[in-house]
Amino acid sequence: MSVSLTFAGRVVLVTGAGGGLGREYALLFGERGAAVIVNDLGGDIKGGGKSSAAADRVVQEIRTKGGKAVANYDSVEDGEKLIQMALDTFGRIDIVVNNAGILRDRSFARTSDLDWDLIHRVHLRGSFLVTRAAWNHMKNQKFGRIIMTSSAAGIYGNFGQANYSAAKLGLLGLANTLAIEGQKYNIHCNTIAPTAGSRLTETVMPPDLLESLKAEYVAPLILWLCHESCQENGGLFEVGAGWIGKLRWERSVGRIVRQKNQMVTPESVRDTWSEICDFTDATKPASIQESLQTLVDVLSRVNTGLTANPTSAVSVTVPGMNPSAAIGHTLAEMSFTYTHMNCILYALGVGMSTKDPHHLKFLYEGHEDFSVLPTFGVIPAQSSMTGLSSVPGLDIDFTRLLHGEQYLELFKPLPTSGTLSSKATVADVLDKGSGMLILLDVHTYSGGELLCYNQFSVFIVGSGGFGGKRMLQKAMVTADPPNRAPDAVIVDETSKDQAALYRLSGDWNPLHIDPSFAAMGGFKSPILHGLCSFGFAARHVLKQYAGNDVSRFKSIKVRFEKPVYPGQSLQTEMWKEGNRVHLQCKVKETGGVVLSGAYIDLHAAADDTSVSVCPPQTAGLQSDLVFAEIGRRIKDVGAELVKKVNAVFGWEITKDGKTAREWTIDLKTGSGSLHKGAYSSKADVTFTVTDEDFMEVVMGKLNPQKASKAFFAGKLKVRGNIMLSQKLEAILKEHAKL
Ligand code: NAI
Repeated sequence: MSVSLTFAGRVVLVTGAGGGLGREYALLFGERGAAVIVNDLGGDIKGGGKSSAAADRVVQEIRTKGGKAVANYDSVEDGEKLIQMALDTFGRIDIVVNNAGILRDRSFARTSDLDWDLIHRVHLRGSFLVTRAAWNHMKNQKFGRIIMTSSAAGIYGNFGQANYSAAKLGLLGLANTLAIEGQKYNIHCNTIAPTAGSRLTETVMPPDLLESLKAEYVAPLILWLCHESCQENGGLFEVGAGWIGKLRWERSVGRIVRQKNQMVTPESVRDTWSEICDFTDATKPASIQESLQTLVDVLSRVNTGLTANPTSAVSVTVPGMNPSAAIGHTLAEMSFTYTHMNCILYALGVGMSTKDPHHLKFLYEGHEDFSVLPTFGVIPAQSSMTGLSSVPGLDIDFTRLLHGEQYLELFKPLPTSGTLSSKATVADVLDKGSGMLILLDVHTYSGGELLCYNQFSVFIVGSGGFGGKRMLQKAMVTADPPNRAPDAVIVDETSKDQAALYRLSGDWNPLHIDPSFAAMGGFKSPILHGLCSFGFAARHVLKQYAGNDVSRFKSIKVRFEKPVYPGQSLQTEMWKEGNRVHLQCKVKETGGVVLSGAYIDLHAAADDTSVSVCPPQTAGLQSDLVFAEIGRRIKDVGAELVKKVNAVFGWEITKDGKTAREWTIDLKTGSGSLHKGAYSSKADVTFTVTDEDFMEVVMGKLNPQKASKAFFAGKLKVRGNIMLSQKLEAILKEHAKL
């Protein structure tokens, strides 16, 4: 038998709970252990009058059955008072069911201002005020469940209910946004459109039907949606008669009605009307981003003339993908000629200024030590990305491309002018389900001599699911910083014109300059180039640990996390571990991480006696990638795993007979964590395995059924509670999928 849903310790406010649906919710919550605030103004159905009797009766019923309840007679228009009562009586508020309601039905022509206003005040404004009063408490306790009560009259319209329909659909709009804003605080908001016999419906339904559509059939849905184990958020449900259905939006594929350099005309709309309204192959957009993405797709299609065929439509599906044809494909060689001007422009683009005298060597071609910043190495290589459009077996929608990670390695300092050639190869293609990940390796040469190597890691949203492999083998991997406060921090302002300046180095994407383009991508204004923040962070490290000596720079790896808006400050946090400097870059104003898993490897200084604590053979272990993914999963679903697993796993990954890496997966403490190197909590079980065998276990080659068989085959050494290896299988199987 499954576990029953209980609400012990939870405090619930049900508005309008003196009768009808609200009463049923309150009774069921009371029965299931919640403390209930039974709110009801006790007026008539049109919003007149006031009485405490209705709420008192329901409180009495709950108490008689052994439950906890208290009555509240305020109007929902006094939202604060309702929540204050919950806090004063029970010390917290966990669940708000906005249910109170009245009716003032009139045909539209006869709807008075009062009919309109009263309905909006009770339904829409009342729900807003009550919910707003509870919001910060829910946010602080990182738990909240909210119900909005809409109506079929709002969803579909109903004669004589213009005021009510408008308010009821307004509640859905409110819920949609609360679901988005609340998600990260574990505040979920769902909407119901119930049908039940009550005093509100007795004038519109025949008595038999009224009798059959019992309010008690609706209450269980409310309880499930409000339970801590329910992850539903932003849903809309019709419910009644013992049936529940979920609603969503559907949108026709539609029709592009304009062509490049032409206006839309009313006639072109008329002539394509049947296609605009044709629901064959309709899509179901679920977010504003998806909705806007269509417009971005349309713009790119119109601009590239893809609408020439009058029957072509906005399609967001990706036709047949053939990664095996793409992997290993070499793109046409690209040539890049530059002078000291490009080097200086780049330095200004990544925030260098004559305000710092040490920057002069990057800004003045007459300086005795005029140098080019090492991260300029991405510039000659970046144009190779456009070549991806001609790779066989890949059909890339460039409007959906996200730059995920970047690796750059210099084999010698870059010259301050010259002509370079870049050869790009598709190193790997990965099916991530929600999208496609492409690794593009670019080698850049000067007169036949290899100067630098870039690895671009790009993600094409929505192009996954083509059945390709899920494990990258050729990726340069990120590395998390040590578990201590940073050794050094540098904060630098970006200017309002930072992106405008940086783009002159060759990244012309309008996303970084054109407000309307940025808005279509879902951004409030144009964003800074990820590679610009990358340049900022790299020069911070070069300054802090290499005295701005470009010959010390060896390589850099970063993962791009979040956008930066020009004008924000970048805070680079650094940890030095031998010749490796781990770094993390944040937006100072928000604390949001911009670059993560990042590091720069430096060449030892001629006078540097410190030895690298990161031996070369440990760089680039294949298992690092899996652990990085495990780390990410723990961030997402760690709490759930802790409940399921409740153990600490130690890992020793060996290479060439030596321990190359230690990891601890703590699924016992808090909401779980992953640690690289030494970790204070004692592992319940520790596994020792070679890097190669670890990958085989993960990929299921060594033994698809049981990791513990690997133990018997002598490939996996286990210390501690061997029984826990059973649980391990679940973690590796479910949480190391790449
Ligand atoms: P009901 O009239 O039995 O219950 C509504 C309760 O809200 C009443 O007890 C009333 O005193 C209370 N109330 C009214 N104004 C208030 C205020 N300002 N402050 C506090 N309490 C107030 O009606 P029913 O059918 O149970 O409706 C509950 C909710 O479900 C309403 O929001 C209604 O619009 C909605 N609904 C009901 C449908 C049905 O078939 N019964 C259909 C669609 C929506």
